[in-house]
Amino acid sequence: MKNRSPPAVYLYLQLILLLSTTSVSLQNPSSSSSIVFATLGKLDYDFDIFTLPIFSETTSQNHERQFTDGVSINYNGFFLSSTSSLSLVATSTSSPPPLQVVYVTERYGSSNIYLDGIYYGVDGTSELRRRSVCEKGSRIQIPLLRLEDRNGQISMKDRPSISGEQLIYVSTHENPEVPRKSWAAVYSTHLKTGDTLRLTPYGIADFSPAVSPSGIWTAVASSGEKGWDGEIEDLNTHIYIFKTQDGSERVKVVEHGGWPCWMNEFTIYFHRRNSDGWLSIYRAILPQERPIKFQTVVIERVTLPGFHAFTPATSVGNKSFIAIATRRPTSNFRHIELYDLIRNEFIEVTRPISPESHHYNPFISPDGSLVGYHKCRGSVNGGKRKNPLLLENIKNTEPDFSLFRIDGSFPSFSPDGKRIAYVDFPGLYVVNSDGSGKRKVFLDTAFATAWDWKRKGVVYTSAGPTFSSERTQVDIISVNVYEEKISELGSTPSYKTLTFGGQNNAFPSPSPDGKWVAFRSGRSGNKNLYVMDAIEGEKGGLRQLTEGPWTDTMCNWSPDGEWIAFSSDRDNPGGGSFSLYFIHPNGTGLKKVFQSGKGGKVNHPWFSPDSKSLVFTSDYAAVSAEPIANPHHFQPYGDIFIVKADGSGIRRLTHNSFEDGTPTWGPSYIKPVDVVQLPSSGSSCEFDDCHWLSKAPKYGVEIPNKPRCP
Ligand SMILES: *[C@@H]1O[C@H](CO)[C@@H](O)[C@H](O)[C@H]1NC(C)=O
Ligand SMILES: *[C@@H]1O[C@H](CO)[C@@H](O)[C@H](O)[C@H]1NC(C)=O
Repeated sequence: MKNRSPPAVYLYLQLILLLSTTSVSLQNPSSSSSIVFATLGKLDYDFDIFTLPIFSETTSQNHERQFTDGVSINYNGFFLSSTSSLSLVATSTSSPPPLQVVYVTERYGSSNIYLDGIYYGVDGTSELRRRSVCEKGSRIQIPLLRLEDRNGQISMKDRPSISGEQLIYVSTHENPEVPRKSWAAVYSTHLKTGDTLRLTPYGIADFSPAVSPSGIWTAVASSGEKGWDGEIEDLNTHIYIFKTQDGSERVKVVEHGGWPCWMNEFTIYFHRRNSDGWLSIYRAILPQERPIKFQTVVIERVTLPGFHAFTPATSVGNKSFIAIATRRPTSNFRHIELYDLIRNEFIEVTRPISPESHHYNPFISPDGSLVGYHKCRGSVNGGKRKNPLLLENIKNTEPDFSLFRIDGSFPSFSPDGKRIAYVDFPGLYVVNSDGSGKRKVFLDTAFATAWDWKRKGVVYTSAGPTFSSERTQVDIISVNVYEEKISELGSTPSYKTLTFGGQNNAFPSPSPDGKWVAFRSGRSGNKNLYVMDAIEGEKGGLRQLTEGPWTDTMCNWSPDGEWIAFSSDRDNPGGGSFSLYFIHPNGTGLKKVFQSGKGGKVNHPWFSPDSKSLVFTSDYAAVSAEPIANPHHFQPYGDIFIVKADGSGIRRLTHNSFEDGTPTWGPSYIKPVDVVQLPSSGSSCEFDDCHWLSKAPKYGVEIPNKPRCP
């Protein structure tokens, strides 16, 4: 189980190299294509870690500090103690010592864990003190992991903490080789030697680790051996503890609970959804004797019904309070509050400062004087996105293509690969793949885009709402986006409606000979596949390709013309599970190509330019983090995968806890660097918190909301 990564000292030296070369990647000579996908909401997050003093006169807006540097997204922080034995940040004897936080960051196209130290002067302002090559002004910044460079492993990292010289964290780099099993497992990396040890047993997924004050024990939220049942609102994990050193003496201490944190060696706080429907904070009091007998653990509910309380944090320096995130019926935003365990009262900390921002996943400094959390940087500073990205380069070890996240949904490439069509609700856009020449070509709500192979500049889309019933008004249109005359007049191009009756006609995919368009329609009462004339639409010729009391949808015609790939729930109609099917355009040869385990989802298939592989979104790797710790995602298990056209050789391309979807595979290689979109696409920070938190449980008793503002 042991791996070696470069020691931290080496990482120190690598930093300059990293900073100067990360935007330059060598192009493989065989690289010939690009995959572009969408991630719900992600490009609007702009998360940074903020800190705020508590229990002091200075608790006010002026003293909320943005700790991280505003690059990419930064979240799930952990304070190092100033007396930590970890000497990565060379502290001088002059006071005060730097404030040190480890956190997850997604810069440079992959997930990593960084340690930043900032020197604040005695008056609280940051000082410019350059003491080594790693310092940028008053900030020292050290990437702690370089796993992916070592073994070609890409992974999501999550909830880091440091104990002694060990970094404890979640990573998704090991494939359990079982569909719908999470790849999340807890690892420990020695920061000096780089030795890495897996602490989670194989065959099990662990989330949200927390190390006890002594460092001896680690608690996790674990799926156990049963695995994942498709649930997201209440992940139904259990809390296990094990020896931090090697994962041994693993024992279940709480049935049904998540996001553990330690108050002392015998008290763990966690969240759980009570049978009354409210997410609440609980504590587990562990017996002194080891090994622990599960029955001897005492469980107490800490927060009462009336609002949701979750993601608790503790401080070893002040054991009389905890920090939590809440959703109160009196606010549509997630806020950080303290809960005084002695007076049994809540102290709101972020609502008085920024009432209309979501705040996530609190953590407290070891001395109990600071609370940290992450939120969107734009909302406090009135900031707009500095460089809105059209395409965010995502690190990828497959040599044949580059991989990007697009600022929109349902992308598709023009046949020459030079232009991209996509939707951003409402509206259909086209843009050059270098980010230039963006135009809105259809004003209303549309989804699913595809370019005609023969007629230059013809883009098909479905106009109308997504996720609707068979009878919903959705029709396929073709838009000529090269109508120069019209664009000169500054108006949007004209379009032609190809289907009639509006019975949810969607997901157009043209044949490579330019003659036909495959699509799904609810006209028979079920969503099945049809083929119609590409120019005249269904009036010019229509035939039904699949038929049955189930849903066939999201079709994609292979570039070699042989197959139409689609997503179907015919194994269990209406059951929410979708598999990848192929059918010849003449209606013969129907076959199932890939299934994500029993009850799983394979959606939005798209052929590679050589027709030999497909990209799609799937729940094949289950969830990678507790969904409650993120903003809202309908399907947080969605990741992007590729598979060969015979259904073999599945490869995971994206590793994150967000909802990735609607991939496309284009015929030109886009250099793997971020593509900036100009002009600015407006402000960020527009995203929803978990929808299920907005619902008060029906029979929940509402307790009066009496905030005590600091
Ligand atoms: C410890 O926390 C309590 C709240 O429970 C607070 O009243 C007290 O001031 C804190 N002590 C210190 C030293 O910050
Ligand atoms: C249907 O199309 C496939 C693939 O092009 C071809 O192999 C097959 O012979 C065709 N069958 C009929 C009945 O035309």
